[in-house]
Parts: sequence; structure tokens; C-alpha cells
Amino acid sequence: MKILAIESSCDETAAAVVEDGRKVLSSIIASQVDAHIVYGGVVPEIASRMHAEAISGVVNQALEKAECTIDDIEAVAVTYAPGLIGALLIGVNFAKGLSLSSGLPLVPVHHLRSHIAANYITHPELEPPFLSLVVSGGHSHIVNVKSYTEFEIIGRTMDDAAGECMDKAARALGLPYPGGLNLDREAKNGNPKAYKFPRPKVDGSEMNFSFSGLKTSAVNAIHNAKQKGEEINIADFGASYIHAVVGCLTANMKKAIEKTGAKKIVLAGGVSANSVLRSEFENLCREMNVELYYPELKLCGDNAAMVGAQGYFEYISGRKADLNLNAYATMPIDKADF
Ligand code: KG4
Ligand code: ZN
Repeated sequence: MKILAIESSCDETAAAVVEDGRKVLSSIIASQVDAHIVYGGVVPEIASRMHAEAISGVVNQALEKAECTIDDIEAVAVTYAPGLIGALLIGVNFAKGLSLSSGLPLVPVHHLRSHIAANYITHPELEPPFLSLVVSGGHSHIVNVKSYTEFEIIGRTMDDAAGECMDKAARALGLPYPGGLNLDREAKNGNPKAYKFPRPKVDGSEMNFSFSGLKTSAVNAIHNAKQKGEEINIADFGASYIHAVVGCLTANMKKAIEKTGAKKIVLAGGVSANSVLRSEFENLCREMNVELYYPELKLCGDNAAMVGAQGYFEYISGRKADLNLNAYATMPIDKADF
């Protein structure tokens, strides 16, 4: 079964054709990075306008590259939440128009569920149940994935997300947007022990995160150094900071594995591209004798192939929307209503 999938939750306009949830026939991404770089972050109004300009061409390209016409497609899947509301609405409205004109069923897909589903493409043998660490620009969750469409959050951030934490420190260091990616690159050969950072714990919960203190301590250290005219070694600072963020993620995942007895760990979201995160999770999973999965690099960031993957499993579980489908800026992964 071929699904046409659309993603526009942040700053990538993307469309893909995916067969049976695992086989990508095409995946087109129009990135807006160049437009937002001068502002140091995503400007929501610019994002919406650029999605509106790009979406029709991107969808056509996805069909062409998959050597399909709309007649070969059996459902339209679209990211409807969470994300930038104006950006989401462009994709949702386009998908609704397509569904109305073609008569195809419309499948609403939760953005974080689709990040997890990127792994079904990279690892065709992967099946739930498993524990997933979902780390993106706006979310940090440990999720018990019970089935393709049943989720339970067992750990979450109480404040900032891991990606936000990476982005803010990168920005304070003067690195260009997208911060997390550039910080990862700059920190490659840095000494992770050169700078000291707190590794905050949340009272009363071993699996929840708190990153705002860690983020603030980095930003303050950078500002203090600037005021005193002291040089910061970006490679060492970045390496120390990334190890602190990743240290919090691995510590809580260790608890989660102990508590649940999980045998499979799945990384998901933009931050799962981080090289330290991957290697530290490799170490943790080896030590605890559990299998580790993460998406290939091109599927870590926002794309529509992952929407087509999750869309397939949502569709076969009976999830279908009508033309009243709306977009939502926030929506929990475990109760993804529409
Ligand atoms: O999943 P994603 O592409 O978009 C959201 O759904 O938010 O995640 C974007 C986040 C940003 O915070 C970005 O800085 C971070 O993922 N990111 C990274 C890396 N690549 C992207 N963070 C650390 N290391 C990377 N290599
Ligand atoms: Zn994302």
C-alpha cells in the first residue's frame, strides 16, 4: 500500500511516497535553513510563507520521483501536531485539498510518533514493544512504545528540551543556526572534561529531565567570559556541554531499562543525529545487554518519509480524519486526538 505523506511542522517542507510503512519510494525535502540563518532561529511567519510557496512543487516532485500518479496512492498522511501552528496548517490544508479532490483517506500523524517511525525504515526488522528516547528541538521524552500506535510517556523534561539546550548554547557561542548540528561539529575533537557543568536531577523522579539549569549555566559562563575578555575554547566547551546533556539522557534511560526490563532502545528526533549521544548510548546498551536502534542520519531531522511510515501503521489501525481536521501546536504523544 502506497501512502503520500506531507510534513511542514517547522522549517522543512517535505513530501514522500512510502510503501507498507517501511519502503521509501521517494522523499523530497525543501529546507528553509538559508532563510532563517540570518535570524539565528526559525521565524514562524517566514516558515509558513515558504511552506505555502514550496508545498505544491514538493508534493509533485515526490510523486514523480516515486514514478506514481495520485491514482497509485491509497492514503494521504499529514503531520497535524505538534509544531508551529501556521506551518502545520499549510501541510494540513494541502492534504485536505488533496483528499477532497482525490477521494483518498486522510491520516493525521503525530510528529513525535513519526520521528520514532523513522526507525522502521532504517531497521525493517524492528517491531514494538521497545523504549524510545525522543529528543527534538521542543521535546525530550522517554516513551514506552507498546505497539505501533500505543504510547506511554515514562519520562519527560520538566522545562527545556535537549535540542533547545543545544541550540541556545550554540547561539551564545556565536555558532550559526542550526545550533545543535554546528555545536556537534565544532565539539568533535574537544576535551569533554575541560569545563564543568551541572547534571541536574528532578526530585522524586528518576526518569524526568530538567535541562534549564544546565542551559543557563552554559549561557552565563559564556557571557561571563565575554565580559572578562576571556577566550572560550569552543571545541572543549562544546564537548563538555554535550557530554553533560547526554549524561542526563543516558542516566535516566539506564533507570528506565532497569525499571521496565526493556530489551530494545530506539533513539528518535533531531538530536538523535548527535555523535556523542549515539556513542554513549552504544556504550550503555552494550553494558546493559539491550539492542540499540537509531535512524540513518538523513531520517533524524524532519522529513516526510517518517510520516509515511507512521501514517501506514495509523491507517491500518483505523485512524482516519475528515475534512474538519485541524492542526495543533501542542499534543501529547500518548493521547494524540484530532
Ligand atoms: O526533530 P527536529 O529536526 O525538529 C523538531 O521536531 O524539533 O530536531 C531539531 C533539533 C534542533 O534543536 C537541532 O539543534 C537538533 O535537533 N540537532 C542536533 C543535531 N542535529 C540536529 N543536536 C545535536 N547534535 C546534532 N548533530
Ligand atoms: Zn521534528
